[in-house]
Amino acid sequence: MKFKRQIFGFMDMLRFKKMVPTRRKMLAEGPNTPLPKEYRTNVLAKKLHPGYMQVELTAARFLTDTIRELTFKRIDTSEFPFFRAGQYVSLQMKIGDSLVSRPYSIVSTPRQALANELVLAVENAGFVSGYLNKTAKVGDRFVMTEPSGEFHYETLRDSHHIVCIAGGSGITPFMSMAGSLADGDESYSMTLFYGARTAAQLAYKAELDALVARCKELEVVYVLSDEEQPGCEKGFVSVELMKKYTDLTNSTFFLCGPQAMYDFIEKELTSLNLPQKAVHHDAACCSDLSMEHPGNFKLTVHMRDEVYVIPAKANETLLTAMERAGLNAPNKCRAGVCGFCHSKWLSGSYRVAEDRDGRREADRKFGFIHPCVTYPLEDMEIDVPPAY
Ligand code: FES
Repeated sequence: MKFKRQIFGFMDMLRFKKMVPTRRKMLAEGPNTPLPKEYRTNVLAKKLHPGYMQVELTAARFLTDTIRELTFKRIDTSEFPFFRAGQYVSLQMKIGDSLVSRPYSIVSTPRQALANELVLAVENAGFVSGYLNKTAKVGDRFVMTEPSGEFHYETLRDSHHIVCIAGGSGITPFMSMAGSLADGDESYSMTLFYGARTAAQLAYKAELDALVARCKELEVVYVLSDEEQPGCEKGFVSVELMKKYTDLTNSTFFLCGPQAMYDFIEKELTSLNLPQKAVHHDAACCSDLSMEHPGNFKLTVHMRDEVYVIPAKANETLLTAMERAGLNAPNKCRAGVCGFCHSKWLSGSYRVAEDRDGRREADRKFGFIHPCVTYPLEDMEIDVPPAY
């Protein structure tokens, strides 16, 4: 290839000398209109990433005897941001003196978000989910984070065919993925294996059957462990069972359900010698450690100009201690993955939950922690940015 060489000569000097007057002239000739108050790019970015949203519960119904569906609308504006099917939101509320939040996978589709509707389904398990399942009522207001998370289809990374495996309330992200596929917003083909103990514990069966009827790229197989039912497989979601329905060799797997299901399926999948990128599982919240006599410590929390000294138990995460004390500490995934709770460690030893240390090397080196997966081993002091 030939390049034209230009020597730095008299003409260049002349151009350089004229640069400032030329610019002044161009500025003087420019229109007098004031700069826009907001640029379209910023408006769009704010729409897609609002940070926190004010929402109201507009409808609630039980899907099974333990799973309750909750529908929300935004009250700070008229639509939810468009999101990737499979993502989650974190819902924050005050229960007694505690300021608590939990992440829940979104059931509804991205299109519904634009019609100001976002649906979650919550199982009656634990302090916050139990409250949402039993006590929350239509008209109640909450703070919700923007949709987040990496549990979604990625064209460049994933195979065209995806095999989704749901256990119990783990059906939620797949409802959004199946709905989005039927809406024509996704490009994959999907085989969903949905396991439950009995047919009565299958949430959304009618809705899934309706989606299958209108989308030829979607297949759903119901698998019941405790009873025989027409139209359902009996047993567990094993590789042998999955092979009856689909080719597993050229697929990407998405798993969502209880830990026991992950342990079982991941063992089953070893026979397929899949690359690591071919299996995704939804992150579960970091739970309390089981200890007979957990120690009680003092946690000193610096938050902007305030300093709080609060109790912290050895078997609970620092985030749980802060929530119990009513402190507004930032968090989203509660699984050590998103980095949203990123805080500065000041003193005191701690342990990080097994296989949950999602910190970058630099964070570890310079003393940053994720309170959502960190347990105190003695009195501790940390610096936490307030959530909002
Ligand atoms: S809340 Fe996501 S890493 Fe702590």
